[in-house]
Amino acid sequence: MRMRVMEPDCVYDIQVPSHLAVYLDRSPIALALADARNDNPLIFINHGFRELTGYTSEDMIGRNCRMLQRDADNSDARDRIREFLANDRQLNVRTMLINFRKDGSPFVNLLYMSKLRQLGGEMPYIFASQFDVSRSQPERLSAYDAELGHTLGRLTPILAESGMVLEGSLTAIANTAATIAQAKLTLSDLDRTAFP
Ligand SMILES: Cc1cc2nc3c(=O)[nH]c(=O)nc-3n(C[C@H](O)[C@H](O)[C@H](O)COP(=O)(O)O)c2cc1C
Repeated sequence: MRMRVMEPDCVYDIQVPSHLAVYLDRSPIALALADARNDNPLIFINHGFRELTGYTSEDMIGRNCRMLQRDADNSDARDRIREFLANDRQLNVRTMLINFRKDGSPFVNLLYMSKLRQLGGEMPYIFASQFDVSRSQPERLSAYDAELGHTLGRLTPILAESGMVLEGSLTAIANTAATIAQAKLTLSDLDRTAFP
C-alpha cells in the first residue's frame, strides 16, 4: 500500500525510504527525486527546492518538473535531458534551463541529474539538484558545487541501506570558467524571455 506522510509543508510518498527523504530534506541545496518511469513524476522535493521555486510539495508531487518551464523554449537543454533519460549508459547530465517560480519570476536553473539504481539492475529514481545562476549569483556556483559534492558523497551509505547506488559522479561536472561563462550567456536569454 502506498501512503502519504504529511508534515508541515512537506508531503512525501513512502515509496521513498524515509531515511533518504530525511537526509535530502536537511540538505541546504535544492534536491528532487522523480520516478524513473511514466514521464518521471516527482516523488520528493526537499526544503531547498521549495525555497528556490516557491512551490510546495503538494504543488509538485506527482507532476513532471517541466511545469517550471512554463512557455520557455529550452529546446537544447530539453534535448540533452531527454537523451540522458533515454540512454542507460549516460550517468549524469548538467544543463541550464529558464524556469519560473510560483510567483512568476524567471530564473536560470542549472540542473544536475543522475540515476539511482537498485542493486541488481532496476532504476527506480532519477535524482536532481537545482541551482539559480541568475543575476548576481554565478560566483556562488563553486560553493554550490562543493555542497552538491558533499551531499552526493554522504548519500552513498544512506542509499546502500536501501540497496541502491547513485550512478556517475561529480568529477564530470567540475566547476569551470566555461560553465560560469555559459551561465552568463544564458542570463541574456533570460532577459529576452522576461522582457521581450
Ligand atoms: C528528477 C527530475 C528533476 C527535474 N528538475 C527540473 C527542473 O528543476 N526544471 C526543469 O525545467 N526541468 C526539470 N526536469 C526535466 C523535465 O522534467 C523534463 O525531463 C525535460 O523538460 C525534458 O522533457 P520534455 O522535453 O518532454 O519536457 C527534471 C526532471 C527530473 C527527472
